[in-house]
Amino acid sequence: MGFARKKIALIGGGQIGQNLAMLAAMKELGDIVVLDIGDFVNPIKGKALDLMEMAPHGNYDANIVGTGDYADIAGADVVIITAGKPRVAGMTREDLLATNIAIIKDVANGIKTHAPKAFCIVVTNPLDAMVYAFYKLTGFPKHQVVGMAGTLDTARWRAFIAMELGVSVSDVAGTVLGGHGPDMVPLPRLTTVGGVPLAEIATKEQIDKLVLRTREAGTEIVKLFGRGSAFFSPAWSAIIMAESFLKDKKRILPGAALCEGEYGINGLFIGVPLMIGAKGIEKIFQIKLTDEENAMLQKTAGVVKNTVAETKL
Ligand code: APR
Repeated sequence: MGFARKKIALIGGGQIGQNLAMLAAMKELGDIVVLDIGDFVNPIKGKALDLMEMAPHGNYDANIVGTGDYADIAGADVVIITAGKPRVAGMTREDLLATNIAIIKDVANGIKTHAPKAFCIVVTNPLDAMVYAFYKLTGFPKHQVVGMAGTLDTARWRAFIAMELGVSVSDVAGTVLGGHGPDMVPLPRLTTVGGVPLAEIATKEQIDKLVLRTREAGTEIVKLFGRGSAFFSPAWSAIIMAESFLKDKKRILPGAALCEGEYGINGLFIGVPLMIGAKGIEKIFQIKLTDEENAMLQKTAGVVKNTVAETKL
């Protein structure tokens, strides 16, 4: 007896990890293991049990467990990594580097040993450097490692456009490229609302304001929280990526992938449009950018390069 379900391992059972567990359950993506450390192990076991007890009303079948032992992630199809400290007000994502690189080293080691075939989605900040570090430390093939940032940045861009214009967010389509920081590159030129180019229904002032708000969206939330950073929208964004992999949906989503010549960028993880399917990252799309857009992308790549250098990997 037993179930032939997919298996999802969540490394880090904090704000994002807990929401990931709930969303993965409600979407019936498979069985779920949430791993945390030290004093957080018993609480995550309790929260996993709480989610099992939610199942009759949530109407899902899934085995959900909390653990402190990497052996329990064995056989995972997908691993989502949120282990690490979030920001407090006044911090940049880069300020987290020293603390979180030590955590990623530990996590990379555990995943490499116990789930070496899993598709890995890194969420820990500073994102572009942490996904690079994870890739270097595990030695996994590049199609097996992705950073979750562009999918969230694009969700924020779409949400702000819908809020500003008073239209359905379902009709807003667009993408955000680059690093997960204030230099990210939303692309208004390629954004549409129900097929109508954004520039035809929003003024330049509105668009400039929306670009700025998107770039600072994470910080806007950190300021309101005081301690900690966004968790609902990051969790949904990572789940969308995991779902596309698990169900071979081949969604086109922006995410941080290892670029080796794409967009003239070499050896860095940076947010670009990807196709995610059963093989992991199945394709990187190269959009023809204007000179101005390309200059912005090269600028954000320069920022990412400096942060990556600090990992000393
Ligand atoms: N192994 C496993 N889990 C760990 C480890 C480790 N070595 N170190 C820390 N953790 C756990 C913490 O115990 C905590 O439960 O990671 C969890 C992080 O949860 P939160 O502090 O609530 O942070 P969260 O809001 O979920 O954000 C996690 O994602 O978006 C980024 O900037 C954010 O880096 C942060 C990460």
